[in-house]
Formats: sequence, structure tokens, C-alpha cells
Amino acid sequence: MSIHRHVSDGPESAAAACARKIADLLETALAGHAEATLAVSGGSTPALMFDSLAALPVDWARVHVFWVDERMVPPTDARSNFLLADQRLLARVRLPRTNVHRIHGELAPSTAARQYAEDVRAFFDLAPGALPHFDVVHLGLGADGHTASLFPGEPLIDDRAGLAAAVHAAHLDSWRVTLLPGVLLAARHTLMLAPGADKADALHNVLRGAYEPRLYPAQVVLHHARNVHCFLDRASAARLT
Ligand code: 6PG
Repeated sequence: MSIHRHVSDGPESAAAACARKIADLLETALAGHAEATLAVSGGSTPALMFDSLAALPVDWARVHVFWVDERMVPPTDARSNFLLADQRLLARVRLPRTNVHRIHGELAPSTAARQYAEDVRAFFDLAPGALPHFDVVHLGLGADGHTASLFPGEPLIDDRAGLAAAVHAAHLDSWRVTLLPGVLLAARHTLMLAPGADKADALHNVLRGAYEPRLYPAQVVLHHARNVHCFLDRASAARLT
């Protein structure tokens, strides 16, 4: 497990550091290719990072944005991961709408998952059974050690072939659509942004605990993905020293 750990003073500086890394990685990708691909997560943490990223010089017209996961709500719902990114980043950088590849949370979960997988497969022009290599995948970390919408006990944590699936988060009594582990592991660069005291125990369990991915799903990514960067702050890194 080789993880680059970046510990900032607080959530604002952690978010800014993560945004700078994403911008750098996108520009590097664009130096060698016509387009770059970024998959973002939702929740509450990314807002500050999106704000920082929107202010950085990225050739957004050549960046395609996807989502790591989505709640099964309309794109206008305050819980929507699409809405968060759209308001705090995409609208500000005027990302062409053709570059937006959202998960259609307004549909039935299985339909949304199937459509999203088809969108990903078509964009990356994947051969049957192949997985996409996103240039950058941005992940968060739940206090329970989940990432994406791969929650503790989710059998799909062991999946390495699928692209996306609908999962039922029993503890939230809600459905989600999420990219599957094989896609997360195929990313060229993985950036986890996890500041705040409420992440300290999860980070300790995920990074220092025994490898039990069914219990701590984020371990699948942090232990096996390549080019992993964790953007923390002093509060969330408190149990790692
Ligand atoms: C979501 C996210 C999820 C998030 C973690 C952390 O849809 O909620 O994609 O994986 O990254 O739950 O959430 P916070 O940033 O709100 O702590």
C-alpha cells in the first residue's frame, strides 16, 4: 500500500490542496490527450474542494465529468451529488453540458445504473468486459469506512468486473447507484479527501486496521489502487501518528 498522505491545518486547506492536485493531474492528462476524465463524489466534504477547483486554470472544455455515486433523487434535489458539483463547480467553469455524465437519480435504481454503465462504456469505447481508466477519481470517506456508495457489508465490495450498480443502503433506507470496485481500482489517480475529526476513527481503521474490506470498504481502494493521494487535516489524521 503506497499512499501519498497530505495533512493540512484544516478542512479549507485540505480542500484547496486536493483541488490543486486534481487540476494538476487534469492538465497533465490533457498535455497528452484530447480529453481528460474526472469522476467526483458527493456528500458534504467536496463543496469546499469544488469551490477551490472552480478557481483554478483548467481547460474544462476538454474535461468530461462523471460521478462516483449518486443518490436516487432528482437532479434538483438538495441531496443530489450532481447538483452539488453543478452549483459549486460545473456551472462556474461553464463545463459544456455534453461533458456532463451524471447518474440519472430520478430514474429507478436499476435503470439508472444500467444507463450509467452504458454511458461509461460508450464514452470509453470499452470492449466487452473491459474497465474504464479514469484519469482522476475523487473519493470521500464515511465515518463507517465506506467510500463511493460501497457500505460495510455490501457484497459488491468483492466485485472486480462490473462498471456500476444499484445498491440498497439499509441503514439509510435508500438506494444509491455507485461505480464498482473494479472501476475505482482501474483509475490512473485516486484522490481521497477526508478532513475533519469525524473521519479520524475511520482513517485509523482503514489505514492501520486489519484488512477487512467487508467491514471497511475504503480499504479496497486505499490498499490496492495506484497513485493514491489522501488529503487530510490535523483533526482527521490525529490517530495516524
Ligand atoms: C455520498 C458520497 C459518499 C461520501 C461519504 C462522505 O454520496 O454521500 O459519495 O461516498 O463521500 O459519505 O460524506 P461526507 O463528505 O458528507 O462526510
